[in-house]
Amino acid sequence: MAFTPGTTALRGRLLTFLRAPQGPGDRDSYRYISDGLVVVTAGRITAVGNASDLLPTLPAGMAVDHYPDSLILPGFIDTHIHFPQTQVIASYGAQLMEWLEKYTFIEEQRYADHAHASRNARFFLDELARNGTTSAVVYGSVHPGSVKALFTEAEARGVGLVAGKVMMDRHAPTALTDTAQTSYDHSKALIGAWHGVGRQRYAVTPRFAITSTPEQLEAAGALLREHPGVYMQTHLSENHEEIRQVARLYPEATDYLDVYDRFGLLGDRSLFGHCIHLSEREMARMHETASVAVFCPTSNLFIGSGLFDRAALENPARPVRLGLATDVGGGTSYSLLRTAGEGYKVLQLRGQSWPALAAFDLMTRGNAAALGLTEEIGQIAPGRYADLVVLDPSATPAMAHRRDVIQGDLEEELFLLMTLGDDRAVRATYIQGQRVHDRDAVIADTVALGIQRGLADIATGRLVPHDEAMDELDASIEQAVRDSH
Ligand code: GUN
Ligand code: ZN
Repeated sequence: MAFTPGTTALRGRLLTFLRAPQGPGDRDSYRYISDGLVVVTAGRITAVGNASDLLPTLPAGMAVDHYPDSLILPGFIDTHIHFPQTQVIASYGAQLMEWLEKYTFIEEQRYADHAHASRNARFFLDELARNGTTSAVVYGSVHPGSVKALFTEAEARGVGLVAGKVMMDRHAPTALTDTAQTSYDHSKALIGAWHGVGRQRYAVTPRFAITSTPEQLEAAGALLREHPGVYMQTHLSENHEEIRQVARLYPEATDYLDVYDRFGLLGDRSLFGHCIHLSEREMARMHETASVAVFCPTSNLFIGSGLFDRAALENPARPVRLGLATDVGGGTSYSLLRTAGEGYKVLQLRGQSWPALAAFDLMTRGNAAALGLTEEIGQIAPGRYADLVVLDPSATPAMAHRRDVIQGDLEEELFLLMTLGDDRAVRATYIQGQRVHDRDAVIADTVALGIQRGLADIATGRLVPHDEAMDELDASIEQAVRDSH
């Protein structure tokens, strides 16, 4: 069924970033309207301003979704996530290379089955919506069908993705490998079928240097040269053992980044996941080529990979462009709020800290900038898609209790959301002006379902209703009393 973009309006506390905040208290980096209105026409934002100014201009009868105490932000963007790892998340006790072999390379084989891929694409996109994520950069499995299933489902929901089929032609189970030629052919076919179709875009996706021969990286470079505008995503410098193996496999390369560089894989549409253990030369080269380093804090902690060095990467002498991502299933949460909260702790361990303004900017406008898509997503401004998240800063008793003492301070409220918030704090999610997740309606539905099931159980005799049970008890007591006389 084709997706119908919404024509509607949302009222609440609006927050959108205009540029990267320079530090705490940088009020010029964002626009905040305490009682704002976003007007949406056919899926795009057409007006933003004070509710008192805009409400009288709305067409008669236009619905307004009012969230009086909530914050309305641009939907979150996840710049690195693995769609075939929704059932790998929370796998115990391994570091990168063992984790790949023991869990990931087993699970991803199931995506040869198109029905399985379609089912899990639906779960995946539901889960993004529940967490307020409205766009994502996604790794498929090696099977082109997995990416077809994902794009098909995303397009039917009006969700814009950047995604690609993993290329891997060595150091993995045979069932999970392609060849340099088939990876080129299949990627090319997917680019033709999906890149620029609706809201979908393609990313050439060599998994990482260990699982690609030089011939395959050459094929990846050719795909990028032949299709300007497609993205490139891979992993870089995540784990020390990985780095040692890359050096053994590519002895001619100066360092890990240079492996990719030699095949023309660097550039302003190239996203490198992790980037934890980079040398000064590598960071300078990333800056020179405008390549993006993607910070994946929950994954880096969970797989025990190391601590991202934001200050080194953002060295003003040669700043590297940054993204923020969950990296599910190495990552442990679909929530960008949780991801930012863990990112803060990682940077604390580096002695660096991370202002809430900077974190929220990166989850929204900053990640859109990392993709070169700020004209489409990441801001609440006319012309952008109405991909929005509505956040409830009092979502749990602990959040409401803490909020009692910081009422009115926006930065403290954002910090509270990233420290204590998760999917429970996502009150609603909108894709192109259509509400695709409504937390409280889901809760109401769940309660109604429980009541319905209870009634069904009573009707079929599986459950005895309380009053009847008490009547039976009373009757049996009366009988016992009568019997005793
Ligand atoms: N390096 C190569 N593949 C992967 C992956 O699936 N997850 C993570 N975290 N690192 C990788
Ligand atoms: Zn990854």
